[in-house]
Parts: sequence; structure tokens; C-alpha cells
Amino acid sequence: QSLGSLVVAVDGTSGSGKSSTCRAVAERLGLRYLDTGAMYRAVSWWMLQHEVDIYDPAAVAAQAATPVLVSGTDPRNPTITLDGVDVSAEIRSDAVNGAVSPVSTVPAVRARLVDLQRAIIGAGGIVVEGRDIGSVVWPEAGLKVYLTADPTARARRRAAEAGTADVAATQESLLNRDRIDSLRAVAPLTMADGAVHIDSTDLTLDEVVDLVVGLATAPADVS
Ligand code: DC
Repeated sequence: QSLGSLVVAVDGTSGSGKSSTCRAVAERLGLRYLDTGAMYRAVSWWMLQHEVDIYDPAAVAAQAATPVLVSGTDPRNPTITLDGVDVSAEIRSDAVNGAVSPVSTVPAVRARLVDLQRAIIGAGGIVVEGRDIGSVVWPEAGLKVYLTADPTARARRRAAEAGTADVAATQESLLNRDRIDSLRAVAPLTMADGAVHIDSTDLTLDEVVDLVVGLATAPADVS
């Protein structure tokens, strides 16, 4: 399989280093990049802005197809627009951190975003990060990675990114999201068949990127 049509699916828990890893891998390999978490976050932000009750699945489902969502796929400059407005900053707010797990459990939301994701993946040549990429969105991906790290390491990284000193609160919010993401009925976070598990707890970003690039460029098994 040539790199031009390769799909790299990277799933894993919050704060395991998925985004930094995927962007760097895409840059190194000259591939596009898609952050599916940003899409769930953007829809959640839209629901909050439009005062939809995020704990009412029917209300969320009724609006699932309304927001106009466009994801840019340049790993150097990932963008996400809602109704034409870039919401890259808004989707990282605490309000969205709290809303995104309940919103992303709603089947109508998932169905719509999975359709959009498949259309963007198209003929391939892309690194895609999320929770269900290797299991649901693109099970035929040429490379599947399941990226994890222990909760303390993840909380430390997320707190540093967010510029907060409260690692304990960051860890609690992250574990809460993990719980909802792993236990939900539709497309729970899980290690896909054929995925390579990488635990990034004791690895630097460069080490993880080298591992994934090595897997993506290794000659395929001839069987
Ligand atoms: O990767 P992230 O932390 O930005 O993702 C935010 C939330 O979006 C996460 O808690 C679960 C949801 N999500 C999902 O359900 N499926 C995906 N493919 C990606 C994210």
C-alpha cells in the first residue's frame, strides 16, 4: 500500500498524546490530518450556544444535522469551522470539556460525524485520531495504533497545555471523560482488532512519532 492511500487510525484516551503525535506523523509522511475529537467538540459547542439541553438525547439528536461543520486537514494548521466561523479556541473550553462526552453518546450525532469523517478520509493519505477510528469509522485502515499513558502522566500534560496548576482537577475531568467514553453503548473507546498498542507514559513525543512512522513505512507482510 502506497503512503498516498494509507489511512493511519490512532485511537486512545484523552491526553495520551494523540494530537501531537498524529500531527507530527502526518507532517513527516506528507499526509493529511483529521482530529475527530474536534468535530465532537464543535457540535457540543454549537449545542451549548443554541441552548440545547445536552443531557436530553432527543433534543441533541433533533439538532444533530443542523451545524455546518468544516474540518481543515493541514497538519500544520488544523482548523474547524462552525457555520463558517473558526471555533478552534472555543472547543477547548471547560464548558465543552464537560459537554462533549454526553453529546458524543447520542447515536444521531455519531452517525452524522462518522459520515463526514468517511467523506474526508475518502481515498486515504491521512492520519485520523479519535476513539473509534480503527473499530468503526475505518476498520480497514492500513495502520491502527492504540495510544495510552497512565492517568498521572496524561493529567500533567493536559494541565501544562491548558496553563493550569491544578493537575488533580485536570486528572479528575479526564478520568471522568474516559469513563463515559469507554462505557457508552455506541462505539465505546476500545482497542480495535489489529491495533498496535503504544504506552507513551515513559516515551518522549519524538520517540512515539518515530515508532508510528516506522510502523507506517515498514514493508507490509506478504501473506
Ligand atoms: O480527543 P478529544 O479529547 O478532543 O475528544 C473529545 C471527546 O470527543 C471525547 O471525550 C469523546 C469524543 N470523541 C468520540 O466520541 N469519538 C471520537 N472519534 C473522537 C472523540
